[in-house]
Amino acid sequence: MLTEKHHFVFSDYIEVSMKIFAETQHLYMRAITDDDLEAMFELDSDPLVHRFLGQRPLKARKQSQQYIDHIKMQYQKYGVGRWAVIEKATGEFTGWSGLKVNFEDIFNGHENLIDVGYRLMPRYWGKGYATESGKAAVRYGFEVLGLDTIYGMTEPDHHASRRVLEKIGLTYVEDFVLESENLPLTFYKTDKPEAHN
Ligand SMILES: CC(C)(COP(=O)(O)OP(=O)(O)OC[C@H]1O[C@@H](n2cnc3c(N)ncnc32)[C@H](O)[C@@H]1OP(=O)(O)O)[C@@H](O)C(=O)NCCC(=O)NCCS
Repeated sequence: MLTEKHHFVFSDYIEVSMKIFAETQHLYMRAITDDDLEAMFELDSDPLVHRFLGQRPLKARKQSQQYIDHIKMQYQKYGVGRWAVIEKATGEFTGWSGLKVNFEDIFNGHENLIDVGYRLMPRYWGKGYATESGKAAVRYGFEVLGLDTIYGMTEPDHHASRRVLEKIGLTYVEDFVLESENLPLTFYKTDKPEAHN
């Protein structure tokens, strides 16, 4: 388990920011950097993208910068965080995908969890990219980070996201309301393959 005392470290952020964490048939996943600010703001200011994320699209670039800063902090502290998803054929930033460390939050009694998530620009939807990048992130979590369990969460009515979680290999756990944001959530998880034996 990744913990604050025992964690997988790339303490030098430069090393992390240059890194390609994973590669799939159509995509590669690299660290998100300050150079992604415009693309991240395009992503998060789009109401379509935020339809199932509490419906609060961002209004200002500084909010995207704060989000990038948080991801960079996760790279430095834990060696992992959401990744930029780059389409190999075009070299374009399509959005982000990957793991997030949630050690500060409690989800209906679940603590110290790491979740897989994804957020793509609408022009890249329907190409299998969330599934492709999400599978790579889960594999990375088990094989490189040595995690025992990876979680996923989405709003109950977000059927595309639920479908992606299932295609990645997660199974349904429960529904609950995240009190801090008054947000109904559906919770999924997957255990590392050996744990099934
Ligand atoms: C959700 C999201 C990540 C999906 O990305 P994507 O790359 O289009 O997903 P994939 O192509 O890998 O797979 C989508 C699956 O959902 C299915 N799907 C799409 N819309 C659906 C719907 N309304 N109901 C049921 N299934 C649906 C697709 O058919 C596909 O399944 P299939 O391969 O069995 O046909 C993308 O729409 C997105 O970024 N949305 C905005 C951000 C967001 O909501 N992120 C998730 C927050 S929890």
